[in-house]
Amino acid sequence: MKSIILYDSMSGNTAEVAKAIHRSLTEKFMTPSLVKVEEGLTVDLFDFDLIFIGSPVISWLPTQTLMTFVKKMMKDYNGQGLIKPSSPVIPGKFGISFGTFSGPHIGVKEALPMTLWLNSFIEHLGYTVLDQWHVVGKRNNPPKNWPEINKNGRLGDIEDRPNKADLLSIENRVKGVVDSLSSWNNIKEHI
Ligand SMILES: Cc1cc2nc3c(=O)[nH]c(=O)nc-3n(C[C@H](O)[C@H](O)[C@H](O)COP(=O)(O)O)c2cc1C
Repeated sequence: MKSIILYDSMSGNTAEVAKAIHRSLTEKFMTPSLVKVEEGLTVDLFDFDLIFIGSPVISWLPTQTLMTFVKKMMKDYNGQGLIKPSSPVIPGKFGISFGTFSGPHIGVKEALPMTLWLNSFIEHLGYTVLDQWHVVGKRNNPPKNWPEINKNGRLGDIEDRPNKADLLSIENRVKGVVDSLSSWNNIKEHI
């Protein structure tokens, strides 16, 4: 099963989560690709069976860089006839969206549009969305008019997030996903 972790990160929090996913997949004897999305990146997602795609939440959505990348992929795949009406599920292809957010105003609800946006992309490809993971991440370089943003928001004190427990939680979830997908593969071989 080929896997890829595609992500963007402006100040490092989402990169930490992406690396935790990478670490965990590697421990499970997968050989994942870890790719930070930059302008001009070319990659064929259909080469991969398990896609992780993640971003920081920026005004409720993914970063502009990641959205531009996704829109370009959609355009290219559309041109190749790969985005099909009704988006039929391709057997054996899975995706998970993830991201980090500070939730200062309305908590985790600030992160939901971002992962929904990414899930929509995954499903357009015909991949089955397995989950969406929202990890709390402190605001680095807080805005001048709100220096205490990491303490006064709805999530309380988030100064150390993502912390060790957050990253361990992600690593454990990845292991769970790999275990269930491989047991499904074993069952399939016996049908
Ligand atoms: C310009 C800007 C806008 C942001 N907007 C939101 C937001 O709407 N909701 C939220 O929960 N967090 C928001 N954040 C906080 C980031 O999502 C959070 O700090 C994230 O962990 C940053 O990840 P990164 O270090 O990978 O860039 C914003 C941060 C920046 C810099």
